[in-house]
Formats: sequence, structure tokens, C-alpha cells
Amino acid sequence: MHLPQSDGKFRLQSPDSVPVMMGAADLALIQQMAADLPDQARLLEIGPWLGGVSQHLADHGTLHVVDHFRWSAQNAQNHPDLLPVGASFRPLFERHLQTQGKAARLSECDISAFEWTGGALDFCLIDAPRNREDLWLCLRQVLSALTETGVVLIKHGLNPAHLDMMALIEVLITHQVLELVLTGQPGWCNIAVLRRGEAGTELPTKAELALWLKTPCNIKRLPKDGPPERALLMMAHLAELAAVGETTAAFAALRQQRPDAALLAAWILLEPGIAPNTAETGAFAAFADLVEYHHSADQKINWAPPDHSLAWALRHCWCAYVANQNGQAFALFEIVAAFEAGRIRDLLPKETAK
Ligand SMILES: C[S@@+](CC[C@H](N)C(=O)[O-])C[C@H]1O[C@@H](n2cnc3c(N)ncnc32)[C@H](O)[C@@H]1O
Repeated sequence: MHLPQSDGKFRLQSPDSVPVMMGAADLALIQQMAADLPDQARLLEIGPWLGGVSQHLADHGTLHVVDHFRWSAQNAQNHPDLLPVGASFRPLFERHLQTQGKAARLSECDISAFEWTGGALDFCLIDAPRNREDLWLCLRQVLSALTETGVVLIKHGLNPAHLDMMALIEVLITHQVLELVLTGQPGWCNIAVLRRGEAGTELPTKAELALWLKTPCNIKRLPKDGPPERALLMMAHLAELAAVGETTAAFAALRQQRPDAALLAAWILLEPGIAPNTAETGAFAAFADLVEYHHSADQKINWAPPDHSLAWALRHCWCAYVANQNGQAFALFEIVAAFEAGRIRDLLPKETAK
């Protein structure tokens, strides 16, 4: 546990405080959003662990928490000697809240079995899912219960290590199921803060969602005064597509974007954390290079001719692709083959092939 001698990730400020995994920036953001809640708000927390955040949320109204309350191998590794792997930590959670004089209603179940039947929600904090499927299971349950001013906070929703979750959030924003809330949060705080979008409570079917995920948003420019987190989400969606080999869709969406320093900065933040499928690393490398090239400047200077190297062949072909909006795909493999055969100029318009 968070004892002073613990080598684990987490520490207690004082021996009687409740353990918490989230850092100061996350907690500050949660407190900031909770401070705006109406009196006697209805709050839901999915994945409360030992209650370190729950104790604060309970101050704002009726708090409901959902967790399977099973001590994980990771918990046991970080906090040896507290509980054996698989044991229930529900008694610890209950004791922690009780000693703080706080209360919560509990649902002890796995996310996959979770059904929200508790009525309208003003606030929902999600910190259990670590993949897209689990996040969607949670969101499906809560989105239609959110009030018009209600907010949903998703831990790791802006974490490049969870591109799949980011891509889900991005498509829900694109299709106006959700919208980002302007929070002023620092760039290192990876909680996505959202509210219901204009599409209302109509949620997509599984098939619609799968289609949305294959079709990135094709807006040309980000709104100037919008939440800066959108740039990260948009680029995360493209990164995820490229990382799993859906490069045609990723290139097509990249072409639509106007060169933009915010999108470039978002990409630079994301790129080191991306682990493309091993079979796709070559295509991903080409995509990564072209993202930086595309967003670096409005006017490109091609310092080297197309047959100088594969990188320059791709850049020349990219300029031709951007200039020629004829609906054709960016033919990455054809370009590579043409370069290797010494025929790259055959693919380029005469005036750029010099
Ligand atoms: C990272 S911890 C939450 C930490 C907490 N927000 C804090 O800052 O102290 C994740 C929580 O989600 C719960 N959890 C993870 N997977 C779950 C699942 N499939 N079903 C239900 N609960 C789950 C874990 O038991 C744990 O309590």
C-alpha cells in the first residue's frame, strides 16, 4: 500500500489518507469539474479502486461506484503484503469511505456485466477500461443517462498508449455523440472531458461504430477556439489506422487537412508511443514521414529530386496527390515498386518530375 517505506508507484501523504492512483493534475481536473455540478448531483465512478477519488466525489451528491473489487497481479506487485491476487478489496474500499465519513452505493460486477439503471447522471468518471471494447461497454451504459450539462471524464482518453480508446472518442466527437469540454487542463493530464453532443442520445450500432472507425474525420482545419485536445484525438485516429495497416484511409484524411502546427505538435507527442503491427512497420514509417512533411509548411521545398531516395520519391508523389484531388488513393506500394525499378518519374506529372 502507500506506506512511506513502499517501493510502489503510490505514496500516502499521511498515514490516514485514502490511497489514490491518480496524480495531482488529474485530481485537480476532477475537482474542477465536480465544483460546477448542481446541488445534490448524481455521480457515477467506474473503477474506484480503494476510494481515493471517490471520497472527494462523494462530497458532491449521491455517488455510485462500479468495480469488480478484485486485487490484480499489478496491485499485488505495487503493494506487496496487502492482499493476495484475486482477493476482494471491497472491505478496504468500504472502510476507507467510512473512516472519511463518506458514503457510496456499490455495484460489484465486471464492466461486461454492468448495466446502469440508476437514472440521470450529472457526472461520470471512467477509470477501468484499458481497451476500446471495454470503454464502449461503459459509454453505452452511461451516455443516454447523461443530463444536458452532465460530463463524462475518461482516464487515459488522451493517452497515446491507448490509441484505440482515443480513436473511439474521436469518432464519437466527429459524429456529434460527444463533444469535448474546454477545461484548460495541462497537456500532461490524459483525462478526456466530454459532454453529450448534438446527436442526442441516439447511440450507434456496433456495425455503424465499426464503419465510423474506418472513416476518419475529414475536416480541413481545427476550430480556432476549440479544446486543444481535439488535435491529439484526430491524429490518434489516423495513427491507429496507419498502425493497423489501414493506410489508404489515413492518407486520404491527411490529405484533407491544411498544414497545421497544432496537428504537427499532436503527432510529435503521439508518435513515440505508437507500436504499429509488425507487418505494417514499413507503411507506418512512410505515413509518419509524410505526416511531418505535410504539416511542416504550407509551401513545400523539395530539396532533392524524386529519384534521390525513397523518402524523396514519396514526398514528390505526396505533393502530386495533394494537388490532384481526383479521388484516387495514395498508391504507396506502387510508388515503392516504381522507385525500386527506377521508374518513379513515370508516376509524376511532367513538370514536377524534373
Ligand atoms: C486504475 S484503477 C482506478 C484508480 C482510481 N481511479 C484511483 O485513482 O485511485 C482501475 C480500477 O478499475 C477496476 N477494474 C478494472 N477492470 C475492471 C473490469 N473489467 N470490471 C470492473 N472493474 C474493473 C479495478 O478493480 C480498479 O479498481
